[in-house]
Amino acid sequence: ATTASPGAVATAAPSAKAVATPGTAVTPAGKPPTVGAPGIGDPDFPFDGNGGYDVRHYTLKLSYDPATRRLAGSAIVKAKAVQDLDAFNLDLRGLRVDRVTVDGTPAGFRREGDELVIQPAARIAKGARFTVQVDYGGEPQPIREDASLGVYGFIATTDGSFVTNEPNGAKTWFPSNDHPADKATFTFEITVPDGVTAIANGELVAERKAGDGKKTFVWRERHPMATYLATMMTGKFEVRTGTTGKGIPIYTAVDPAFRGSLGYLYEETKRLTDHWTTVFGPYPFSSTGGVIDNFTAGYALEVQTKPVYGGFVPRTGTIAHELAHQWFGNSVTIARWRDLWLNEGFATYAEWLWSEHRGEATTDQIFRQYYTQASDQIWRHPPAVARPNNLFHASVYKRGAMTLHVLRRTIGDEKFFRLIREWTGANRHGNVTTEQFIRLAEEISGKRLQELFDAWLYQPGRPAQVP
Ligand code: ARG
Ligand code: ZN
Repeated sequence: ATTASPGAVATAAPSAKAVATPGTAVTPAGKPPTVGAPGIGDPDFPFDGNGGYDVRHYTLKLSYDPATRRLAGSAIVKAKAVQDLDAFNLDLRGLRVDRVTVDGTPAGFRREGDELVIQPAARIAKGARFTVQVDYGGEPQPIREDASLGVYGFIATTDGSFVTNEPNGAKTWFPSNDHPADKATFTFEITVPDGVTAIANGELVAERKAGDGKKTFVWRERHPMATYLATMMTGKFEVRTGTTGKGIPIYTAVDPAFRGSLGYLYEETKRLTDHWTTVFGPYPFSSTGGVIDNFTAGYALEVQTKPVYGGFVPRTGTIAHELAHQWFGNSVTIARWRDLWLNEGFATYAEWLWSEHRGEATTDQIFRQYYTQASDQIWRHPPAVARPNNLFHASVYKRGAMTLHVLRRTIGDEKFFRLIREWTGANRHGNVTTEQFIRLAEEISGKRLQELFDAWLYQPGRPAQVP
């Protein structure tokens, strides 16, 4: 469900180009048809997500056969209308849709690019809760965006699937409101051949025989989650579970090729999850963990409750980074992609904090090194305006982290760490913008910080003033 984020997502409707036309939908006599927008209102990603409703819960009942690469099943989406709806969209890329129902009644539907346009038999009234079921299947294809994002979405591997959606790859495997501004809880019921393990977000609540040489894994994520953090990792895995010192359940898994690193992944995940609770505030979810698959993605993703490492054994700094995202990004979630530095700047700064905590390079040393040696790329490109074709630019990470360090030196450690805990506490499971962070920093420090943030986040060029 969407958390109100002033001015961010509710306004700025995208171009009306692909707006669903209501066609033959039955509309109350005399009232013009009213349709949900094909985008949620992110100015940089105009067709990501959709308008007109808030998703509350996704139930994904899916079977996947690694041998045929076929995914099939149903997505059951519970939502609440925020306007009258004669038609509305879900995001879905590829795959074949067989049937759509709304509150149990068959609905009309058609495909327009990556939009699934749905026409319920009767208008859904503003404020009403409704349930959409989409029966679908096919061979999911990941998105290949060579310029900067690489390959993401549902990726078939030799023994299963490697699934990392950031930024908008959820639509490659389930119909969704595919934008972080609409978070929802999830249930996964994933059926795979015997001998294959299915891993998703949250906790494993059941494992049962499905007949026909198959098994169903039921996972539940009971805290709100952005679609880009959903996963279904399937394949052969070695698993180790337990509880952290602070009592947080932990689930780690590695592809057999990484067998020797399962103990390391488990121990590092355990101690870093606990460590971050002492710095960032209470852990926001019901479990922690991590998965190493042997698909070489070239990156890791902070999948909610279980970061995924694509084909490599992560450095302890990388585990620190992905687990920091559980607070910054996963619990406190951006309302629009241009604010991505709120995820990556914090997670990168967490790596610096971890280095300092372990008695290695201090945050001051790491800052100075970047300040004096960072490439021109970082100075040319301000971090708080992440662009679709360059979302994961080094500046978003490094200059984002440098901004936090400058802020810390300007307002002092006591206020800085209080600010961080306020930020994660007040916005727990919510959506945020950079403007909100600046406001809170000014409030807690009692200082005017516009100039600092302007120079570090919004202007090209290397800021001259460093504390
Ligand atoms: N958020 C990830 C991290 O910094 C990076 C994800 C990269 N995604 C991609 N499609 N290239 O930990
Ligand atoms: Zn990151």
